[in-house]
Amino acid sequence: MASIKTIGLLTSGGDAPGMNAAIRAVTRSAIFSGFKVKGIYRGYRGLVSDEVVDFRAQDVSNIMHHGGTILKTARCKEFMTAEGRQQAYDVMKKHEIDALVVIGGDGSLSGARQFASEFDVPIVGLPGTIDNDLYGTDHTIGYDTALNTIMWCVDRIRDTASSHERLFIIEVMGRNAGFLALNGAVASGAEAAIIPEISTEVDQLAELIESGFRKSKRSSIVLVAESPITGGAMGLAERVRKEYPQYDTRVTILGHLQRGGSPTAQDRILASRMGAAAIDALLEGQRNVMIGDDDEHIVYVPFSKAIRKDKPIDRDLIDILRRLSI
Ligand code: F6P
Repeated sequence: MASIKTIGLLTSGGDAPGMNAAIRAVTRSAIFSGFKVKGIYRGYRGLVSDEVVDFRAQDVSNIMHHGGTILKTARCKEFMTAEGRQQAYDVMKKHEIDALVVIGGDGSLSGARQFASEFDVPIVGLPGTIDNDLYGTDHTIGYDTALNTIMWCVDRIRDTASSHERLFIIEVMGRNAGFLALNGAVASGAEAAIIPEISTEVDQLAELIESGFRKSKRSSIVLVAESPITGGAMGLAERVRKEYPQYDTRVTILGHLQRGGSPTAQDRILASRMGAAAIDALLEGQRNVMIGDDDEHIVYVPFSKAIRKDKPIDRDLIDILRRLSI
């Protein structure tokens, strides 16, 4: 492998709080180790359309406390084509970029894996997504902040739910994963979480209602993960109104609110550790791996494993929710 002198850095897919802290950590660790850094704007789109600038240590000052990403982000259709990836490679060559650090979720790392299989480019990925759905890492950058945002929102909804004695169905993000819904429900003291991971095993709504969950309560909060499998909050509310009309039901969809905001300390620390680890990985000759966090230890996870769709949820939490919602 030719030696690496210049590292290209991009953020891709849905933004996540902590991405700026990761950009700062990658840039500064790289410069500290003697590399040059090029910032690539708008994810793979900027690599295809040549939006590449030199990044100095001071270009990443005063950014780590901001949500979003200073590099901007995009979901890029051109990069899904062979021609687009060829163009991206040509732009890399033009700017003498020898290796890439990609911060993003499963779509972004799938793109990285495809690119690396076609061109001789060392790529290291950082898990940047609020969904926490990447395999091989306990946490992804942005997940903790989104979880705290959900908790903050549910605390407020609880006030009105309790005053009106209503059943609130609150939809949270997660794409096809239930980490935000399940952990958000435990953190906010909700009565239940309806998640795609167990939707085929049990009728979660029927189980909830039949458990007599409101025996000792007059208002209730249920978190539902957005997903065609759960039916989302709208689908669930329609079912409740039809099958259990005795409940005065309301729906709140938290939506993109969950993607913004200043990252928590946990996300800033995770992003800083992972950003530094990405440069260590390149120095060690690693390629095509995602940086993971396994019980507070940095691990290298091959892209093929990271993008598996079956990261397990913590089933004990489902039981804890049931026990605590009586
Ligand atoms: O992957 C992050 C995420 O926020 C998912 O939770 C959600 O399904 C999706 O992105 C929304 O994407 P967009 O911002 O393109 O609507």
